[in-house]
Amino acid sequence: MFSQELISKFENTPTPFYYYDTELLNKTLQTLKKAVDKYGYFVHYAVKANANPEILKIISSYGFGADCVSGNEVSMAIKCGFPASKVVFAGVGKSDAEIITALKNEIFCFNCESIQEIEVINQLASNMGKTANIALRLNPGIDAHTNKCINTGLEDSKFGINFNLMEDVVKQVVKMSNIKLIGLHFHIGSQILDPEPYRLLCIRSNEMQQKLESMGLSLPEINLGGGLGVDYYNPDQNPIPDFESLIDLINKNLIQKSEQRVHFEFGRAVVAQCGTMIARVLYTKKASKTTFAIVDAGFNDLVRPALYGSYHKIENLSTKSQDVENYDIVGPICESTDVFAQGYQLPQTKRGDLIAFRSAGAYGEIMASRYNLRDFAKSYFFNQEK
Ligand code: LLP
Repeated sequence: MFSQELISKFENTPTPFYYYDTELLNKTLQTLKKAVDKYGYFVHYAVKANANPEILKIISSYGFGADCVSGNEVSMAIKCGFPASKVVFAGVGKSDAEIITALKNEIFCFNCESIQEIEVINQLASNMGKTANIALRLNPGIDAHTNKCINTGLEDSKFGINFNLMEDVVKQVVKMSNIKLIGLHFHIGSQILDPEPYRLLCIRSNEMQQKLESMGLSLPEINLGGGLGVDYYNPDQNPIPDFESLIDLINKNLIQKSEQRVHFEFGRAVVAQCGTMIARVLYTKKASKTTFAIVDAGFNDLVRPALYGSYHKIENLSTKSQDVENYDIVGPICESTDVFAQGYQLPQTKRGDLIAFRSAGAYGEIMASRYNLRDFAKSYFFNQEK
């Protein structure tokens, strides 16, 4: 829901662009903070969801840490105010250069996904005279019941270490002189709306901890990853995800030793709803059964619909017409998958109308490309309170 005043600012801004509502972002962060502070849990914002420096600065100002998946994300997070002591670094394919960047910055923890990776970190840390804190990213074999493209915790997923191999890996890791094993890490998927996979994750984590105890090990850090979903269908009714219910559920089901710290890595839930992509209708045209609205944004600007078949609520901000029509809303890219929605009901739409693609704050701007040599869309905050 946008005010007329805001829409007139949109009218005067070259399209396509990303608009971020920092007031909503701040409210979301306050809600998240309240939910985790209740139990003394820690949040590392998943930078991959949106690495816009303005957004990162706002998030870091709440004292949260950062979850990074590349050397560049590590550097950017630190530059935007996240203390290195609160940075975690995950990823199945960390390059030597990226590991060195993270070691130089003395980040809090590497979330490690294979034994070979840990051997390389050990070697590089030894070369630099450092000790690296690591957590084992275990693949818990849990179906998060989400889009198959972002369901990461299944047994044969490329992510993490199969939980059946944990004991073996632990035995090797504790012998490495420049590695300090401090925790377990999990991440079961993204856009998860069903609480059950999280309950199962707690049970799996409890089992793994028990196994470790039987080996005489107790690890101080448990990281349950991110994944909490947002309401893409009703962004105005549900602008802030229900962090509290999820965190309460975790607290109820996770066995937490008194000296243990619990971590989360929310990305989407923090930033999705505060971002909107604004485009303009270039042309409309009719085919035999279809009416097209061709907008000036393409999948290079917002790839989620083309890549995952994802839904974004779409609104025409320029008309209050009661006459509606079904449109295929498509972009200008020379590929037939450059489609945002098919048969989508909008008021009668014409050239020049402003079109809003809602809930685009997560995995929107950051996944943009310059395909067809198109320019990157700019981002605007319109001088709101930051
Ligand atoms: N931690 C790890 C290890 C992850 O791999 C991810 C996301 C997160 C945390 C944050 O998950 P979130 O809280 O945002 O669900 N581009 C896709 C989503 C990919 C998610 C990748 N990993 C999309 O647009 O839906």
